[in-house]
Order: sequence, then C-alpha cells, then structure tokens
Amino acid sequence: MSRRRFIKNLGLAGAGLAINPLKSKTQPPNLTPPVKNNPLVISTWIHGMEANAGAWEILSNGGNALDAVQKGVAVTENDLNNRSVGLGGRPDRDGHVTLDACIMDHDSRCGAVAFLEEIIHPIDVARAIMDKTPHVMLVGKGAQQWALENGFTKASFQVPVPPVQKDYEEWRIKSEYKTGVNVENHDTIGMLALDANGRMAGACTTSGMAYKIRGRVGDSPIIGAGLFIDGDVGGATATGVGEAMIRTAGSSAVVESMRRGASPEEACYDIVQRILKKHPGVDGMQVGFLAMNMQGETGGYSVYNGFNYALRNKGQNEMIDAKYMRTWE
Ligand code: GLY
Repeated sequence: MSRRRFIKNLGLAGAGLAINPLKSKTQPPNLTPPVKNNPLVISTWIHGMEANAGAWEILSNGGNALDAVQKGVAVTENDLNNRSVGLGGRPDRDGHVTLDACIMDHDSRCGAVAFLEEIIHPIDVARAIMDKTPHVMLVGKGAQQWALENGFTKASFQVPVPPVQKDYEEWRIKSEYKTGVNVENHDTIGMLALDANGRMAGACTTSGMAYKIRGRVGDSPIIGAGLFIDGDVGGATATGVGEAMIRTAGSSAVVESMRRGASPEEACYDIVQRILKKHPGVDGMQVGFLAMNMQGETGGYSVYNGFNYALRNKGQNEMIDAKYMRTWE
C-alpha cells in the first residue's frame, strides 16, 4: 500500500468511516464451547464401523482426535478387500491404483496427498506432510518421492490386487466410463472425531472413482471439498462423485452453514440441495455429506438413498441411515 493511500485510510478510520469488521453482518453467532469428556467418532459407510473401532481405541483412552482419525481411516486403507479405499481399490482406466487423502485438526492444521501410488497408507503421508513440511499438499511422483525419503516404503504385493486386476481386464473390453450411484454401498471413508478435551479432527481417504482418467483427483484430498474442520464450529466430510464437492467447496459450505446456526443435518441438506441445483439433469450422481458440531451433534444427508454412517461414543456403536432427496431403484 502506498504511503499516501495508507494515510488516507488512517484518516477514514479516524473519522469512524472505515469498515468495522465487528459490525459485519456475517459475524458468527455466539458459539457455545465444545463439549468435553464425551468423545465421539463418526465415519462414512459400513466400513466406518471397523474404522471407528480403531479410532475409539485412542479416543476412549483420552487420546487426541487427530491421532484417532489417522488410526481409524488407516484400518480401512489396510483392508485389501475394500474396493474404494487404499491399494485394494479399483485402478484408473490405464490400470494404476492412485490414492488421495487429507487430514485436518481444530487449529486448521492440515496435510494432503493426491495421485499417490504404491504406498499403503496415504493418510499417514498426509499427516507427515502436515507435521514435517511447510506445505499442505503434495501430489504424484513428487509426493511418492518425498514419502520414500521420509520413511515410507512401497507395498510389496501386487497392485491392483488380483481380483481387481481381473475386473479391470473385463472392464477394458468395453471401457465404459460411468459415474453412477455406488451400488456396493461404499466409497471414500471420511471420519470426524471429537476427543475428551473438546478438540475436533477429521480425515478422508480414497482410491477415487473407478476407471477414472489417469491423473484425475477427486474431492477427498481437497481441504474444503472432501473435508473441513473449524475448531470453533465443527467439521464436515463428503463421499460420492467428487467433482460436485469441488465445484461447491462442499465440506467448507457445510461448516459455514453450521457457523450461521444450522444443525449438522440442516447444513448437509443445504449443500445437497445446492449441488442438485448446480447439476441439473445429472441423474445417478450420488453425493453424501456427514457433519458434526462442537457440541457433538451429528447429521448426514445425501442425494440418493443408501448413504449411511457409523457412529461410536460411550453408549452407542451403530450405523445410522442418512436422509436423502431422491430414491434410486
Ligand atoms: N469421493 C471420492 C472421489 O470422487 O474421488
């Protein structure tokens, strides 16, 4: 800013004419303090049950939410029978399995990795990027190189795993590229946790859309699209066709709705409605959101039926069906 402009602004401020951020209409409502001593974890789809069990080992022992979500989603990444997360996932249309993940805490610390190949736990790479580098996100060959230089190793088994390779070879005969509702009832795992000290963290990890164009990255590693946490408000994560979440900064939008007073379910409903408005005529596009506020209230909403999430706290360990806009026969 030039000296002249600076002095002019000072003059305006002195006359009380400068914009006063405290009077902004977008000022958040009074935010209630986070609930403590009542840890809670939620995560997308049925694979969330086992992932929550991993996270619960940390949360139930007074551990922090960030370690809990990292450990929780790593359970799903480790499962080579899972076809949408980790190296057991389906490949891109050139036959390569590429992984995306991100992690975020209540202080807006975050790390992300995208288009990563041959490393079993992208969520651990995302956490290491957050802890050890000045950056948020590394991608592709550079991310792999950095991971190998920082103690990660390449998987020693065949990728794609044999049954996935077989499916891929069958798919290649027609090479039909569709982004339909996930009839297998699973996709990305997104997880949100609130620890006993009232700190929230989230993690999201996926092998992405099956048979995608090589190099395609979805919402899951994009902070604000597949995951967003604000320690004053709460967190949100997403699952489904990632392009829709990126176009709308979906998880960030959910958190901002909660900041303005919406419940987690209302906030998820709002963004699903907005996505439908922005994507007219896209039949069969499944998108689901999951949210939690700092009081430990949770909610989800999806475009189509079938989206559910796993919830674990001191008294509950169960699946919950999210509400939805449309029915897929
Ligand atoms: N939601 C995962 C993806 O679109 O890649």
